[in-house]
Amino acid sequence: MKLKVVIMAAGEGTRMKSKTPKVLHRICGAPMISYVIESSTCISPDEVVLVLGKNSPVESVVPQRTVIVEQEKPLGTAHAILSAKDAISDADSVMILSGDTPLLQPDTLSEMVKTFEGTQSAATILTAGYDDPFGYGRILRGENGRLMGIVEELDASEEQKEIKEVNTGTYLFKTSDLLSALERVSNANAKEEYYLTDCIGVLLNDGKTLSTVRCKDADETMGINSREQLAHAELIVRQRIRRKWMNEGVTMTDPSSVYIERDVVLSSDVTIFAGTNIQGRSSVGEDSEIGPYSTVIDSKVGRGTKIIYSVLREVEIADGVNVGPFSYLRPGSFLSNGSKAGTFVEIKNSKIGKGSKVPHLSYIGDAEIGEDVNVGAGSITCNYDGMKKSKTEIDDRAFIGSDTMFVAPVRIGKDAVTGAGSVITEDIPDGALGISRPEQKNIAGYAERRKRKKTN
Ligand code: UD1
Ligand code: CA
Repeated sequence: MKLKVVIMAAGEGTRMKSKTPKVLHRICGAPMISYVIESSTCISPDEVVLVLGKNSPVESVVPQRTVIVEQEKPLGTAHAILSAKDAISDADSVMILSGDTPLLQPDTLSEMVKTFEGTQSAATILTAGYDDPFGYGRILRGENGRLMGIVEELDASEEQKEIKEVNTGTYLFKTSDLLSALERVSNANAKEEYYLTDCIGVLLNDGKTLSTVRCKDADETMGINSREQLAHAELIVRQRIRRKWMNEGVTMTDPSSVYIERDVVLSSDVTIFAGTNIQGRSSVGEDSEIGPYSTVIDSKVGRGTKIIYSVLREVEIADGVNVGPFSYLRPGSFLSNGSKAGTFVEIKNSKIGKGSKVPHLSYIGDAEIGEDVNVGAGSITCNYDGMKKSKTEIDDRAFIGSDTMFVAPVRIGKDAVTGAGSVITEDIPDGALGISRPEQKNIAGYAERRKRKKTN
């Protein structure tokens, strides 16, 4: 038995009021369509066919093996499936999914397959019960709950609008029945579209057996047409992700304030405090603590590291590192084992060696700092002369006095020391002291004279 999946994603998504196609809008960091594609893999289809509009940018985010079919114009869901006719005609059955229904769970799709096969149906429809069914097609039933058809919101009578059972836009069809019904669907309706839902009426007229599966969790079947629905889906997926990681041994002290994107990887015994976002392709190793109020984007965090009130983007942090409070770690930074980036510290494109510390009020850019270096408060790499960026090298065990300015390119030798307040423009050899500041002069009796001047 050959089973194919068709995902409809060529609609204009006008209700989103966006220049971005609806299915590219993101849920927990991943485009909506990627959730749909992922859920379809659970029924092991022979092929996944995606129906897109002309020159759709959606193509660039889907796996290579996905077969793309173009729907010339969005004339309706039936027309979308007809556009995929050549791609599906060799399959025995076709699972149809909507690109804007991303929350479906594998078990639900498997249950549809079971019902479809068990009842030998021409089609199985996934339905759900909604307290507020507004906007969805309603499932029409006759005596003994016998399926009679589907009516769209805009075409429904007041009485039909009261029906709470909706069509979720998810179907499993015998391909031959589907194709024969599609040819007979018209666009004589409120939207002047070719409705896939009309195939149900057509097949019933043909005397075919149809079946339904009612999804236990209506949230799964939510279709996203508006930004408000997008936000609601985000909430549901966010909760799923948190639940998954808590089950894997992650502690969250205030889960509802924690935001973890889909592709993030956490380890057991990680603790995440309130107000923390972990995004993109980030990972966090065992026993690390993130937050409160930290953002980690596309970064790798090692084991036993603590990050407090800080922002990290495209950085790598090794084991036992302390970050924050209030550090800003920018792309290309690498903090080695046991190092520290402290309070009001910004680090960009720099390597901080093992055990080295940048504890207070510093900017470190384009620098390579060796092991066990201590950078005094307020020290800054002057890496940019307005035209180009230059490198600062600080070798092992150097001791940097507070408020040192490194005018790059410059190199500080092993065990070298800088005097507090120095502007370092030349290399300092190993073991030497570099100091560059005017000598101090004390003027005796100055305060007395100043007072007299004032009273005169
Ligand atoms: C559709 C169903 C409705 C169901 C609801 C569930 C129809 C006629 N109605 O309504 O019964 O309750 O989904 O969420 O099918 N698309 C195309 N080409 C088109 C039109 C649409 O590919 O020409 C795609 C869209 O991108 C979308 C999906 O089909 O992913 C559904 O289209 P949409 O316009 O959102 O249909 P609904 O009005 O939500
Ligand atoms: Ca929809």
